[in-house]
Amino acid sequence: MPTVSLTTAKPTTADAEVLVLGIRSDDDRDVQLGELLTLMGFTGEKNQIVSVPSNGTVKAPRVMAVALPAEPTAEDLRRAAGRAVRALKGVKSAAFALHPATVEEVAAIAEGIHLGAYAFNQYKSKKKGKKADQPVELGKVAILSAFARQKIATKAVDDASVVAQAVNMARDWVNMPPGDLRPPTFAQAISDHSVPAVKVTIWDEKRLAKENCGGILGVGQGSDAPPRLVRLTYSPENAVSHLALVGKGITFDSGGLSIKPGASMQTMKCDMGGAAAIAAATVAIARLGLPIAVTGFACIAENMPSGSATRPGDVLTMRSGATVEVHNTDAEGRLVLADGLALAGEAKADHIVDVATLTGAAVVALGNYTSAVLGNNGDLIQQVVDSSLTAGESMWHLPITEEMQGLVRSSNLADLRQHNPKPAGGTLFAAAFLREFIPEGTPWAHLDIAGPAFNDGGASDYTPTGGTGAGVRTLIKLAETLSAK
Ligand code: BES
Ligand code: ZN
Ligand code: ZN
Repeated sequence: MPTVSLTTAKPTTADAEVLVLGIRSDDDRDVQLGELLTLMGFTGEKNQIVSVPSNGTVKAPRVMAVALPAEPTAEDLRRAAGRAVRALKGVKSAAFALHPATVEEVAAIAEGIHLGAYAFNQYKSKKKGKKADQPVELGKVAILSAFARQKIATKAVDDASVVAQAVNMARDWVNMPPGDLRPPTFAQAISDHSVPAVKVTIWDEKRLAKENCGGILGVGQGSDAPPRLVRLTYSPENAVSHLALVGKGITFDSGGLSIKPGASMQTMKCDMGGAAAIAAATVAIARLGLPIAVTGFACIAENMPSGSATRPGDVLTMRSGATVEVHNTDAEGRLVLADGLALAGEAKADHIVDVATLTGAAVVALGNYTSAVLGNNGDLIQQVVDSSLTAGESMWHLPITEEMQGLVRSSNLADLRQHNPKPAGGTLFAAAFLREFIPEGTPWAHLDIAGPAFNDGGASDYTPTGGTGAGVRTLIKLAETLSAK
């Protein structure tokens, strides 16, 4: 990640290779540069970026003009910063003059820079020989702001880098090839990337059996890489409440015996995106020193077909004691989450939030950029949606209907049905199933990130191709909100 600092320097005096200059649609343009920009086709239309030589008008030899709306929101600035950073390929230092009006906007710019600079290169072979073949990395970025001398502004920039590091960590885990990140490796990676303030314990398959985690074991039993449960505990002395985070960690979802068609399987390394998000967010919350206790549960298994796999028709006994009739082994996320949610309830958390790439139906309903939020408590749901807005993630509340509760409880054989053969309202059914594992009276929210977790198209703004780190920023904001009470 580049080093981002704040400076009171003016655009004219900023010392960098490139001056990134935000131009609002209602700005009066600098006459000299304005003419050059117009000549180069800059119209100020949304998302436009045009670079020109500065010709001595400012200290930096190159100016990159970035079009902004007349009154940009923090998210507009976050995106503009990310877009500009991606256009800065081959540049070592840059100064960002995007005219933030508040400390929050300064932080958004810093986040956009760190998130836009993300690249996953671990699997590119090192080019031998010529120096010119080595990618130039953006090392230093200065954000121009009148707030530069204020402590809260420098702290906001430092905090933004902690948040972005967490998002980028989650992206890395999602981007890892699934053969290289199987359950034991993923569990170990979470532990390796933790901090001293967070205690990490891992349950292996023997311990999971002793602890009656029939959901996680049932999903994992078809794979020759055994399942894991990772518990992360952050409990500061000044904690004002206790938040439990539960994440779906399917390192690869083949569908199991209810195997997926090839095309649907292609991106299923992203199916541990929820566990990645809750683990990364827990570490970030600890690094930020927020006064809230957090217990994270990453429910990790690989969903594979084999002679030992769970079959449609099998009955699993879950951690909670409830029995579940399995009808479709591709609806595995709810089974691993059920054990994590039961454990979160046992931990007596004040709030429970789970994050999961749970249903294709959520993608059908809300598309690839919006997560679904469901739950049992209007206040918590509103806090999640509000946090997502501030964080710059798009989330939308969906209901859990009585109809779905009836279907979940309609098994003739066991206590619960895992799967509704009718696809209508699949996201709602899944959430109704999860709710069965939440203690009566504990506020709970479920984030279905199936759409936003993975970007199988090109990069845009601060969102790269591949893993996006969806959910991380919202969870951290939510923890801030809950710890302010
Ligand atoms: N991991 C998938 C959901 C998913 C779909 C995530 C698309 C990301 C992108 C989940 O385990 C799954 O397969 N769900 C099934 C459930 C169905 C069998 C009830 C689905 O959505 O089709
Ligand atoms: Zn599945
Ligand atoms: Zn899945």
